[in-house]
Amino acid sequence: MTNTPVTVVGLGSMGSALAGAFLAAGHPTTVWNRTASKADSLVARGASRAGTADEAVRASPLTIACLTTYEDTRAALEPASLTGRALVTLNSGSPAGARRMAEWATSRGARFLDGAVKNIPSAVGAPDTLLYYSGDKAVFDEHVDTLRVLGGDTVHLGDEADLAALYEIAVGGTLLPALVGFFQGAAALRSRGLEAETLLPYATKWFEMIISVLPMYAKEIDSRDYSDPAASVDIFHAGAVADLELAEEGVDVDWQRPMHDLVRRAAEAGHGDRSIAVLTELLSRP
Ligand SMILES: NC(=O)c1ccc[n+]([C@@H]2O[C@H](COP(=O)([O-])OP(=O)(O)OC[C@H]3O[C@@H](n4cnc5c(N)ncnc54)[C@H](OP(=O)(O)O)[C@@H]3O)[C@@H](O)[C@H]2O)c1
Repeated sequence: MTNTPVTVVGLGSMGSALAGAFLAAGHPTTVWNRTASKADSLVARGASRAGTADEAVRASPLTIACLTTYEDTRAALEPASLTGRALVTLNSGSPAGARRMAEWATSRGARFLDGAVKNIPSAVGAPDTLLYYSGDKAVFDEHVDTLRVLGGDTVHLGDEADLAALYEIAVGGTLLPALVGFFQGAAALRSRGLEAETLLPYATKWFEMIISVLPMYAKEIDSRDYSDPAASVDIFHAGAVADLELAEEGVDVDWQRPMHDLVRRAAEAGHGDRSIAVLTELLSRP
């Protein structure tokens, strides 16, 4: 059986990795990028270079777009004829942005799937790399074997086109606080002449502990029962003082203040003896 021809539009770090994975898997691959020179190494590996975005989309039944934003994607694909084409966007963005993108794509006659790559470019193509998609299930079913080339853990979340962006942002919300926490720890160690590397075994165990408590918190949140806390709001509230005293070690701790403010508001609202997961109620807007 011959492999489905694929077009990749947008050859930045991620788009180049996607196109590279299709080439490695033997898919006839057409590529287009605004800055044409970024296609050179892929063309050297066997990709076909399209002269325009329209030519690129016409070359394959399936087009994967990986530009910076949905707005950039629409700008780049504006001149292209999308009627009857399967279009998959793999950029990051908000659920509202995904809805606008879906409306635009379907109004242009495209069959649309939105997706998210939940990993870095070098992980594209690995058996456990996670990508999720939402939108036109028929497109997903038709091309699932091709999409799985990008990562073995390939999931369709539902027919609503904004679900992938919703889950992406729901999961991704932990990234910056987790990383800044790690960077703060590294800064604290550096103030004592210690290397960040010495933090690794302990930080790794810490992240494993966080993973282990997520099912418990999900259960509390879904049942809205916060009455049996493993760690209470009061415990986190008391810990805020020590967190801020880290400033005495020559570390800027200001980024933590809004989080402590959230915990303080929970305590003031009478949630002190309840599970810290009750913060979900403060974060939910009617
Ligand atoms: N890199 C990662 O680790 C990673 C991981 C997961 C998800 N993502 C997501 O994947 C998307 C792409 O990321 P990236 O790392 O590949 O970014 P990147 O290296 O900065 O590449 C951006 C791409 O978008 C193109 N582009 C931007 N605006 C455009 C416009 N108006 N018209 C035409 N082309 C335009 C650029 O074309 P030019 O070359 O002509 O500038 C380039 O091909 C982002 O949404 C990112 O959040 C990235």
